[in-house]
Amino acid sequence: MIRDVANAGMGNNDILRFWFGESDQPTPLFIRAAAIASLESGETFYSQNLGRPYLREAIGNYLSALHERPVAAERVAAVGSGVSALMLASQLVLSPGDKVVAVTPLWPNVVEIPKILGAAVTRVPLAIASGRWSLDLDRLLDALTPDTRLLIVNSPNNPTGWTIEDDELDVVLAHCRKLGIWVLADDVYERLVYDPARKSAPSFLRRYEEGDRIISSNSFSKAWTMTGWRMGWLVAPEALMADLTKLIEYNTSCILEPAQRAGAVAVAKGEGEVAKLRERLAASRRVLVDGLRRLPGVDVPDAGGAMYAFFRLAGHDDSLELAKTLVREVGLGLAPGNAFGPEGEGWLRWCHAVEPARIEQGLTRLRKFLA
Ligand SMILES: Cc1ncc(COP(=O)(O)O)c(C=O)c1O
Repeated sequence: MIRDVANAGMGNNDILRFWFGESDQPTPLFIRAAAIASLESGETFYSQNLGRPYLREAIGNYLSALHERPVAAERVAAVGSGVSALMLASQLVLSPGDKVVAVTPLWPNVVEIPKILGAAVTRVPLAIASGRWSLDLDRLLDALTPDTRLLIVNSPNNPTGWTIEDDELDVVLAHCRKLGIWVLADDVYERLVYDPARKSAPSFLRRYEEGDRIISSNSFSKAWTMTGWRMGWLVAPEALMADLTKLIEYNTSCILEPAQRAGAVAVAKGEGEVAKLRERLAASRRVLVDGLRRLPGVDVPDAGGAMYAFFRLAGHDDSLELAKTLVREVGLGLAPGNAFGPEGEGWLRWCHAVEPARIEQGLTRLRKFLA
């Protein structure tokens, strides 16, 4: 659908593009330098399926410190992107006919992957309570029946920014433990929380006990601005790692070693960069949300994290048509909400991982359109 919107603006060189979930900043120099050094020293060979031991170790150490819970390198696999991590996790636990429950709206790949594998996906829509995106816990628990194989939770959520609360997470996990339901936590935005007092979003991994059916998928793309590198990771119970090794062999076999060097430096020495990114995102979000809320008929619920404002304009219910009109008439490029499922119809997603000055320009264009 974003492609449809882009086509509507074809031929117009003056488009402000806020439709992708990507920062406008390149990867920090010291991370790039690690890859350059690796290439120069000739690290151009095949490596282990689960990733080089130094990278698995670095990711394990990073997660152990972040979540104050040991994450052994043996449970970590470095893979070729967050989306690849989602595919591998789904291939690990799903069979055709399985029931999957997902909290929605949601970045489409997360629900399309189980469907490609023949699973049936039940969607549990988020609610808006007191002007904030929130979970309808009863509805989620009702959907998680004994025949459910897998629950997928992406928090902070793309596109809404909804972030699960600790007490909600405890209830959901207890329920899944009781019924033997696997949990796939898509944690790619876990560091991008707006509350400066928190180092990360509430986490299933932080609660992991031996025997738990919890898989966490993650990515270098967002917190370290490495979208083009195609680097991510999975944390899974140790009992799955032998099968995961085989699945990776048949998917990509392994990932590029210079990228692995870069990833290891990112998680070991990148805290300063993550902190800077978080500050930039909090500031750009303020500019965007305050600006949107000053416009007539604009509704922007509060959210806990990620890098998006998900909002609607009164009187505009067809999000694809609205996104195409915005690009055609005022050169404002936003993602249509229904790209994230039927719950997103009538909404628009604006990625704010860009300079505030560009957001101001975008707001001026939206104001012009509304006028
Ligand atoms: C919710 C969610 N999960 C996973 C990903 C995958 O990220 P990548 O494949 O770039 O690592 C994205 C990217 O936008 C995302 O929004």
